[in-house]
Amino acid sequence: EHVRRVQDLLAQMTLEEKFGQLNQPAGGRQKALNSRIDAAALDLVRRGGVGSYLHVMGAQFLRDLQRVAVEESRLKIPLLFAMDVIHGFRTIYPVPLGIAASFEPEVARKVARMAAVEASVAGLHWTFSPMVDIARDPRWGRIVEGAGEDPFLGSAIAVAHVQGYQGDDLRGKDVVLSCAKHFVAYGAAEGGRDYDRAELSDRTLQEVYLPPFYASAKAGAATFMTAFNEVSGTPMHANAPLNEGLLRDGWKWDGLIVSDWGAIAELIPHGVAGTPAEAAALALKAGVDMDMAGGIYVGALREAIAADPSLMPYLDRSVGRVLMTKARLGLFEDPYRFGDPAREKTVMLSPAHRAIAREAAHKSMVLLKNEGGLLPIAPSVRRIAVVGALADDASSALGSWRARGQAEEAKTLLTALRESAGSRVQITYEPGAGTRDANLAGVPAAVAVAQAADLTLLVIGEDYDHSGEARSRADINLPAPQAALAKAVLDTGKPVVVVLMNGRPLALADVLTRAPAALETWFLGVESGPAIVDVLFGKVAPGGKLPVGMPRASGGAPAYYAHPPTGRPADPDLAKDTARYMDVDVGPLFPFGHGLSYADFRYSEVTLDRREVGPDGSVAITVAITNTGKVTADEVVQLYMRDPVAATARPVKELRGFKRLTLRPGETRRVSFRLAAAQTAFWEAGRWRIQKGLIEVMVGASSEDIRSRSSFTITADGWGAEPAA
Ligand code: IFM
Repeated sequence: EHVRRVQDLLAQMTLEEKFGQLNQPAGGRQKALNSRIDAAALDLVRRGGVGSYLHVMGAQFLRDLQRVAVEESRLKIPLLFAMDVIHGFRTIYPVPLGIAASFEPEVARKVARMAAVEASVAGLHWTFSPMVDIARDPRWGRIVEGAGEDPFLGSAIAVAHVQGYQGDDLRGKDVVLSCAKHFVAYGAAEGGRDYDRAELSDRTLQEVYLPPFYASAKAGAATFMTAFNEVSGTPMHANAPLNEGLLRDGWKWDGLIVSDWGAIAELIPHGVAGTPAEAAALALKAGVDMDMAGGIYVGALREAIAADPSLMPYLDRSVGRVLMTKARLGLFEDPYRFGDPAREKTVMLSPAHRAIAREAAHKSMVLLKNEGGLLPIAPSVRRIAVVGALADDASSALGSWRARGQAEEAKTLLTALRESAGSRVQITYEPGAGTRDANLAGVPAAVAVAQAADLTLLVIGEDYDHSGEARSRADINLPAPQAALAKAVLDTGKPVVVVLMNGRPLALADVLTRAPAALETWFLGVESGPAIVDVLFGKVAPGGKLPVGMPRASGGAPAYYAHPPTGRPADPDLAKDTARYMDVDVGPLFPFGHGLSYADFRYSEVTLDRREVGPDGSVAITVAITNTGKVTADEVVQLYMRDPVAATARPVKELRGFKRLTLRPGETRRVSFRLAAAQTAFWEAGRWRIQKGLIEVMVGASSEDIRSRSSFTITADGWGAEPAA
C-alpha cells in the first residue's frame, strides 16, 4: 500500500516538488524555534518546496503549518517536523553519557519514551537522537551526547533509545522517529577536534564504531544522520560504499538518511567537490536523502541533473525514501498525529515525568571513591559547607541540548539541600569560584566556610557549555578557577566530598587522590539537586558505573580499557621500555565500568555450562552475587572476554555482558550470561572470523576489578554473520 502511494506520488511530481521533498530548512534557530516561519516560508510550503522542517515545535503552531502543506499545496504531502530532543523535551533528564552510566538499558528506554510523549504532543515527528558514536577521546566535546567508549554497552543503550522513541510500532501512540547519528566514526575525530578526520583501520571501524549503528538499524531506527567527518579520506556525505553499500545493501536497512547541518555543501571545503552542483550530485549518489539546512539540493540539483541525467534514478530513490518515511509514520492518514494542544498543557513536566527524570538521575551517578565511608553523610554531621558555583547553577544542571527545558524548572543541589536539611543541619554556601571567570576573590570565603564545617561538599567540574558540539578542549584538566578553588579547599585538610559535574571525563588525579570521597553526577537534568541529595544522604545508594575511563592526566587520554596488549605491555613497575608514559602512572585513574556502592558485594566463582563449543554454539556463564553490606543497593555485574592468541592482536578485555541488580542486605542472586562463539569474532578481510582456540572469560565489578575467571575452547574455525559486539 505504501509502495503504491509512493509510486503514485512520484509519477505526479515535478522536479521542483521532488527537490522540495529533500529539503529540510531550519524553521528557526536553536534558541528561537519557529522564528523563520514567515510568509515566504509558507509560500515555499504551498509550492511544495519543503519536505521537512527542523527547529520547530508547538502543537498548535505545527498544526497550522501542516495545514498549509496538506490543504494548500498541489500534492498535499505532509511535512515532517524535527528537532534535537537529545535528553528530554521539556522534562530534561541526565545527559546521554550519564544515562549510559546507569548500565541499565531500561533507563534509556524509559527516558526516551517519556521524551517521545512530550515531543510528539508538541507536534514533532522526529528527533535527531540517539547519538551512538563511540567516543574514546574525552577532548571531543560531544562525548557527553553518547554512551561512552564501549561498543557493546553503546549498542545496548542505542537499541533502548530507539525502542523508547519509536515504541513497538511507528503507527502506535506518541511515537517519534529516531535518528542514529552520526554515521560514522564521528567520535574518532583526530585529536578529539570536532569535525576533524577519522583515520582508522577497517577493523577498528567494524569492531568499534559500526556496531551501535548496526544495532540501531536492526532495532528499526527509522532514520540515520551522516557525520560531518571523512573516514580515511572519504567524507561521509559522499561515502556511497558505507551509506549505500554497507548500511543499505549489506545490513538491509531501508530508512531515510538526513545530512548533518549544511554538510553537503561542506564537500567543497573537504576538497572532493568543486561546485555546489558537484557536491549535491555526490551526496545524492552517496545515499544522503535529505538536505538539512543547506538548501543545496533545491539550489543545485537542477544544474547537476542537467549536466548528468543519470542522476534521475538517485533523485527518485531519495524522494521515495522521504515519502515512505512519512507513510510509515501514518502521516498520510493523519498528518496531525500526535500533536495535541490540549494534552500539551498537561503532559509537559508532569509529576510522572519528573519522577522518571529523578529515577534516571539516581541511576546515572557513579561513586568514584569513598574512603572511610564518608558517604552517605552521617547523622552526626551538623554543619555542611557547600562550595563551588556549580552547586547553584540550574542552567548547567540541564546540560547541553535542553530542547524546551527551562533552567527555572531545574532544582539545583544547593536548593535541594536547603529544602531537605531542615533545622537539624546547617548549610552554608560560598560559590568560591566560577567555571570561567579568573577572579578568585571568593576563594578565601569558601575556605572559611569549609574550615567551620563538619563536612564540605566541593562541587566542581565544567559548566554545561564546556562540552557538546564544537566544544573540544585540548586541556581536560579542571578549568583553572575550579582547580584553584579545589586546591584551596583541600588544603584545609578538613573532610571533603567532591561532587563532580561535567560532560566529559576530566583529568582529576590531583584532586581525586587528595579528596577522600567523590561522586560523579554529570549533568542530571531537572531533578539534579534532589537526586544528588538522595544519594548524599543515603536514601538511595549509588550504583552507576563509568561508561568511559577517566584519564590520569590530560595528555594521558584516550585511556580506553579495550586496547591491545602491545608487544611491550605497559608495566607499572618499569617506567621505560613498555607502552606507557614515563611521567604518568599506568592505566586510567578510574577505569571503564568502575563505580562503588554503599554496600559490598561478594562474587562467587564463575561457572560455565560447557568447556568446549563449536563456532555456532554458545556458553552459559553463571555467577552468584551477594550483598554483604548493610543497605539495599545496586551492583552492575560485568562479563568480559579475551582471546589470548589469535590471528590478529585482540584487546586485553572486551565487554560481552552486563546486568544491573538491586540486592537487599544478605540477598544472593545468580546472573547468567550467554556468550556465543560468534561474539568472539574479529574482522578479517571483510568477514567476521571465529577462530578456534581458548577464550578467557572474566566476571567482575569493573574492567579492572575482576573477581572470577574461567575459560572455554572454540573447537573449530567459522564465520560470524554480524558484529561481535
Ligand atoms: O542534530 C544535530 C547534529 O547532531 C549536529 N549538527 C546539527 C544537527 C541539527 O541541530
